[in-house]
Amino acid sequence: MSDVVTYSREQSSGVITVNYPPVNALSHAVRSGLLAALEQGQKDAEAKVLLLVCEGRTFIAGADIREFGKPMQEPGLPEVVNTFESSDKPIVAAIHGTALGGGLETALGCHYRVALSSAKVGLPEVKLGLLPGAGGTQRLPRLTGAQKALEMITTGEFVGAKDALALGIVDAVEDGSDIRAAGLAFANKLADEGKPVRRVRDITDKIDAEKGSDVFNQFREGLKKRARGLFSPFKCVDAVEAAFNLPFDEGMKRERELFMECMESPQRAGLIHSFFAEREVSKVKGLSKDTPVRDVKTVGVIGAGTMGGGIAMNFANVGIPVTMVEVKQEALDKGLAIIRRNYENSAKKGKLTQEQVEERMSLITPSLTYDDFKDVDLVIEAVFENMAIKKEIFSKLDAVCKPGAILASNTSTLDIDEIASATKRPEDVVGMHFFSPANVMKLLENVRGEKTSDEVKATVMAVAKKIKKVGVLVGNCHGFVGNRMLHKRGAEAMSLVNEGATPQQVDKVLTDLGYPMGQFAMSDLAGIDVGYRIREERRNAGEHVEPSWMDKLAEQNRLGQKTQAGVYRYEEGSRKPIPDPEVDKLIEEFRKEQGITPREISDQEILERCMYVMINEGAKILEEGIADRSLDIDIVWIYGYGFPAYRGGPMFWADQLGLDTILEAVKTYQDTVGGEQWKPAALLEKLVAEGKTFGDL
Ligand code: 3HC
Repeated sequence: MSDVVTYSREQSSGVITVNYPPVNALSHAVRSGLLAALEQGQKDAEAKVLLLVCEGRTFIAGADIREFGKPMQEPGLPEVVNTFESSDKPIVAAIHGTALGGGLETALGCHYRVALSSAKVGLPEVKLGLLPGAGGTQRLPRLTGAQKALEMITTGEFVGAKDALALGIVDAVEDGSDIRAAGLAFANKLADEGKPVRRVRDITDKIDAEKGSDVFNQFREGLKKRARGLFSPFKCVDAVEAAFNLPFDEGMKRERELFMECMESPQRAGLIHSFFAEREVSKVKGLSKDTPVRDVKTVGVIGAGTMGGGIAMNFANVGIPVTMVEVKQEALDKGLAIIRRNYENSAKKGKLTQEQVEERMSLITPSLTYDDFKDVDLVIEAVFENMAIKKEIFSKLDAVCKPGAILASNTSTLDIDEIASATKRPEDVVGMHFFSPANVMKLLENVRGEKTSDEVKATVMAVAKKIKKVGVLVGNCHGFVGNRMLHKRGAEAMSLVNEGATPQQVDKVLTDLGYPMGQFAMSDLAGIDVGYRIREERRNAGEHVEPSWMDKLAEQNRLGQKTQAGVYRYEEGSRKPIPDPEVDKLIEEFRKEQGITPREISDQEILERCMYVMINEGAKILEEGIADRSLDIDIVWIYGYGFPAYRGGPMFWADQLGLDTILEAVKTYQDTVGGEQWKPAALLEKLVAEGKTFGDL
């Protein structure tokens, strides 16, 4: 008898119970256990109906992703599901938590489904670069029709139990929390009524009605924009279409072929790396489950600008009261009005009720004095990037805040240790770098200072989770992980244009790689003045900073989207970058002034210089211990800068490409372009010499 799947009988129901923590994934042991338990149930003359139910927090959450990429061990999941469906005794699946992927497919192989009202179902394989490979693409549309099945399978979005009932995915929804009792009641009733088996494969009314429909081509058209660059969503459509064009068994075969194509795609490897990396980043070196975490029940935010306002919303969204302090009433009023407008917009889109808008607004208390921070558990400073101002603020916070309060800075570049030195409690000082727009972007780059205590580190990581962000803990250096790498890419992109590329050529190479926007469209979004001010400050401090055509843009007040002109121009109310001949002229003049003869630059050179310079910097970041693992860097880039998750992050991408290829190119650019950014990282050289990857570290 398997210890992860057991068989027992209660009244006239034979109960198959899966108990494989944490999420009852369909490992080899579970798959074979399911078949063995089913066989027992078939033989049990007293069992009129069989019930499939799970222990723990959830119904089966899918195939065991850890087994992917390893040789498949029989029985495969399609076989398990088909055997369940072929059973002569009716089988009921009782769903709590989440029935996902292979989990929902197993439930669809059962003859009836009952769910708790809190349960959710979904086929999220597409998020892992796959498609449902155990009959999901053939069975779901038989219940829901083509459109809904296509939506669920190509987005991977979950559906709540009540909606699942309306869609015909489940047959009954029960309130309460006892899934076993709900399942047994349903199964025993079925037995009493002598209900027969009801196989989804034999339900054909929706299939017959929509055969030959144009819905598939229309859906493919829509996907071209929504799923740009992705492989598996298009394969999902092909598989669902097969359910309408082919008999069931042939449709299953087609699904398998398409599933295997996805399995072999590099996007599958990238997305699965991203899935596990997102979970790994929360496990921080040096911290454990026993590290104490402080309670954060109230929060203070300094600054009601775009950043401060966005940060405050994160806390209000999860019911944590926020005190927001500004210097002037006017700034406070303006900030609150923007927050309200953001919430009202969500309400207009149906994402919030008006009551929720008011509830969240009531959690944000405006104030003009730091005295109102005296009882808060965490203060986040989000003012202008200026060290002197930040130090003054932290010294005031030190005087006002209660012992044990965490003092955090949202700085995106500045030295956390220097900020902490303005206080008598550097152990309570930490960086919490949010990404703009702070209420939307999922990354929270938490920055540990030299003296930040473990308790504070653990608390800010817990706070990230609480406000539904992905927290990554990194070390202290200029720009930390994300901006330090971004600055290298930005400087290289600027040089490429100096040398002869156009900004739109550079941006296209980056968007073709899968970024949502290129370097220059991003500069326009952030504001050309931001980089200009940094360069000017460095020049004023006596540093040599190469002259740039972008300085000229700033001097002409072409500051980006906010002035409708920057590297690109923008039409009133639109964020769409339009190439501007004025800028081409300005670049041409700049080149003349600098005595540069422009040359033709290939897309390959742009790709290599923009990406390899980042990877070389990433290697230096690892070498210095600023990031603990290459996956921390990957997650920073996926969630902070829109690096395509299907490429697994820049460091994973580099591993796939081959570090030897990258090192060779870095050395070439060291000779041809020069500069410390092209000095090969010692770690990169070491890994190549040892034949290892970043992932091996
Ligand atoms: N296989 C293996 N491990 C899994 C897993 C799976 N399908 N799903 C989750 N886990 C692991 C996680 O890695 C994590 O491990 P850790 O504790 O060692 O870090 C642990 O289970 C808990 O997961 P979460 O931290 O994500 O817990 P949550 O409660 O936040 O979320 C969940 C639970 C909603 C089930 C979420 O984990 C999830 O979305 N899982 C993936 C579901 C999925 O994609 N299923 C489809 C798989 S592909 C498939 O079924 C192919 C088939 O069609 C043939």
